[in-house]
Amino acid sequence: MSFIKSGFCCRNTAEVNNDFVWGAATAAYQIEGAATADGRTPSIWDTFTHIPGKTHNGDTGDDACRHYELLETDLDSMSWLGISAYRFSVSWSRLIPDGDGAVNPAGVAFYNRLIDGLLARGIEPWLTMYHWDLPQVLHDRGGWQSRESIDWFEHYASTLVTLFGDRVKHWITINEPHCVAWFGYYRGWFAPGLTDIQASIDVSHHLLVAHGRAVRVVKNAWPDALVGISLGLTPVEAASDSAEDEAAARRLDGYDLRWFLDPLYGRGYPADVVRQLNITVPSLHDDLDVIATPTDFLGVNYYLRQIAAAGPVDGFLDLTGVDPEGVEVTDMGWEIYPDGLLHLMRRLRNDYAPAAIYITENGSAWPDVVGDNGEIVDSRRVDYLRRHLDTVETIKSEGIALKGYFAWSLLDNFEWNSGYAKRFGLFYVNYDDFSRTPKASAHWYREHIRKS
Ligand code: FCB
Repeated sequence: MSFIKSGFCCRNTAEVNNDFVWGAATAAYQIEGAATADGRTPSIWDTFTHIPGKTHNGDTGDDACRHYELLETDLDSMSWLGISAYRFSVSWSRLIPDGDGAVNPAGVAFYNRLIDGLLARGIEPWLTMYHWDLPQVLHDRGGWQSRESIDWFEHYASTLVTLFGDRVKHWITINEPHCVAWFGYYRGWFAPGLTDIQASIDVSHHLLVAHGRAVRVVKNAWPDALVGISLGLTPVEAASDSAEDEAAARRLDGYDLRWFLDPLYGRGYPADVVRQLNITVPSLHDDLDVIATPTDFLGVNYYLRQIAAAGPVDGFLDLTGVDPEGVEVTDMGWEIYPDGLLHLMRRLRNDYAPAAIYITENGSAWPDVVGDNGEIVDSRRVDYLRRHLDTVETIKSEGIALKGYFAWSLLDNFEWNSGYAKRFGLFYVNYDDFSRTPKASAHWYREHIRKS
């Protein structure tokens, strides 16, 4: 489409391009399976998915993609793809089954095999400490609603750093705290499925302080390692230029983006949001300083934009989400809007000036079909990728410190409350025999990386 400017003509130097990180991302609960194997205990997602009605079709992550067993196959897929980095998360309850005690040797062995297997193939491990799967035992002791969760997370982070820090040089503390807090504790869509606004605020705060503590743990142990957080940033636009719609957009932006970005970048919580939600932020001690501990990069997960109009519909936020008409949407119903990524990056540079930015997730779900010849021609995913990677070039050409891109996802997997119905992978997973097949998009991305 005409609004996407190709930046290929504007690349600065070969060196800059060679440094650019090309990766793919996954998360433990979405791919590992082996939910009860080798000493792993349940996480809140195991509990949640086993409650009838919580996920599409009652799907659970019990088997997921069987990545735990098929690790070597998946490592070889990554090698074939030619990625220079792989972003994965650790299952806390596989590593530390009782949450804050001793490590599970089988869990350590699995992640050692993964990390060593990556390094042997010249792929840099990017380790996400927390991608939503709190050990159920810790939830039973109060979970993220309890301030103690900050200490549990610090212990977990120290354990990770002690075990893997000699080889892992890129760390992401927490993935999308807004999904954990807002979707898990206010909307009830995600584990643990609560619907309590104050609980969600407490959780968001504990997550952010836990993040800051983990940053310090990494930097104290390995000053040369790079650490950041991955935020799910879905930029907000007003449905019209009326003052009411603009104000609605500002409210949603405050709740979804500034609530996390402002304290992380030393501005404290946005006063307008605190006022509007009429909640108490459980801020104690030097929490705001801890949250604002400098990071080496900001991870950005970008999928779409959201549009807000004035209205009383959406509960306490007092606004209405509007579905734009006549636009292309993915199988998730998410608008395809690469320009939103560009606008977001400009804003991040102007308002927060992160030391570096990595797109730690971007991708699209489509109802893929296997052709008679066994091929999966996912042209719309190729198109989505191409358009977003064109935008990446534009962003780089503007001098924004964007240093890498991770496709979501390496392979089809358990898409949370949508179960297995939504496929985001570059590799197709046949859930009958767990075979993997590279889709056309995998071939396209491979070629793109090779040429870059
Ligand atoms: C993000 C999640 C990731 C995946 C994608 C589609 O919000 O971080 O695990 O589900 O959405």
